[in-house]
Amino acid sequence: MDVTITLTVNGKKTSITTDPDRPLLDVLREDLHLTGTKYGCGEGICGACAVLMDGQRVMSCFTPVAQADQKAITTIEGLAAGDKLHPVQEAFLAEDASQCGYCTPGMILSAAALFQKNPHPTDEEIVDWMNGNVCRCCDYPKILAAVRRAARR
Ligand code: FES
Ligand code: FES
Repeated sequence: MDVTITLTVNGKKTSITTDPDRPLLDVLREDLHLTGTKYGCGEGICGACAVLMDGQRVMSCFTPVAQADQKAITTIEGLAAGDKLHPVQEAFLAEDASQCGYCTPGMILSAAALFQKNPHPTDEEIVDWMNGNVCRCCDYPKILAAVRRAARR
């Protein structure tokens, strides 16, 4: 049975009537047209669909939309503050840390979540945290360099 879910996405409050078990990813992409969040594995293990829920990283493919009720969701479309990119976005640009770019939104949101917990992570902590994000282009050295650069700020 459909229920009405109220969530705030990128600062905008919205209500959706839908199956509560539907993945948050589907609601973001199909209902709200926020296609920056990507579908990869659909099983919570690749990180392509990572978003922030109340500042915490969640895999939106694996998160029923009911869990987002009354929560604040940040997708890649909402990470910048107006014209000012988030420091992780700036670092990815500076290090040219993407090839096809498919993994990039999830990588950036995962790194942003890391800095909320640990503003100055070591390389080991970065690698450990980002382990849940897969890059099929294997651009890992540049991704590490970007997260390291953001950590210096
Ligand atoms: S698509 Fe969600 S973790 Fe892979
Ligand atoms: S840059 Fe292509 S998947 Fe990571």
